[in-house]
Amino acid sequence: MEKLTGHNKLRTAVFISGTGSNLKNLIKFSKIKKTPISINLVISNINNANGLRYADKFNITKKIFNFEQVKDTEKKVLILLKKKRINLICLAGFMKILSKNFINKFDGTIINIHPSLLPKYKGLNTHARVIENNDKFAGCTVHYVTEKLDSGKIIMQKKIKVTAKDNPTSLAKKVLQQEYKLYPAAIMKIFN
Ligand code: GRF
Repeated sequence: MEKLTGHNKLRTAVFISGTGSNLKNLIKFSKIKKTPISINLVISNINNANGLRYADKFNITKKIFNFEQVKDTEKKVLILLKKKRINLICLAGFMKILSKNFINKFDGTIINIHPSLLPKYKGLNTHARVIENNDKFAGCTVHYVTEKLDSGKIIMQKKIKVTAKDNPTSLAKKVLQQEYKLYPAAIMKIFN
């Protein structure tokens, strides 16, 4: 396949709500030679989300929408995405659920990273549930976003062992380290 250059890379928006370590990692990935993406927009529903500082640091347009009036907000977001010619949305710790209408109207691909081995543990508190259930394995999943929460087609997963010493915090740390490898790998898988 012909290599994507700065002009024909997938114009990507990353949606965040918090720390933004996956955003930071995706920005790093967008700077390597073989990357298929450029990050052109960061959207947050939280106005002081830590991750927004990476948008500042790397000179990426950032916009905050509170998503309280979901319909109105989504309309505005769709207009912005069109204006910025975005064709890939990466959800990275984004804590709002996008509507069916938004997903259908967006002219491109939407993917998400989730900190569990889907279809196990959709939703929140994934690591605590792994520990509670004495699971032998934990992990993370990159999947397409559909109207059903954490249920779209799986693109890639990474499995790690849970040890007797693990608690939700230690597990979250270990899984996050894997997320940094998995999200770029999944993007390479679908777009290269
Ligand atoms: C990650 O574990 C991600 O899988 C989940 O939320 C966390 C976000 O972390 N959806 P960060 O904001 O990217 O640091």
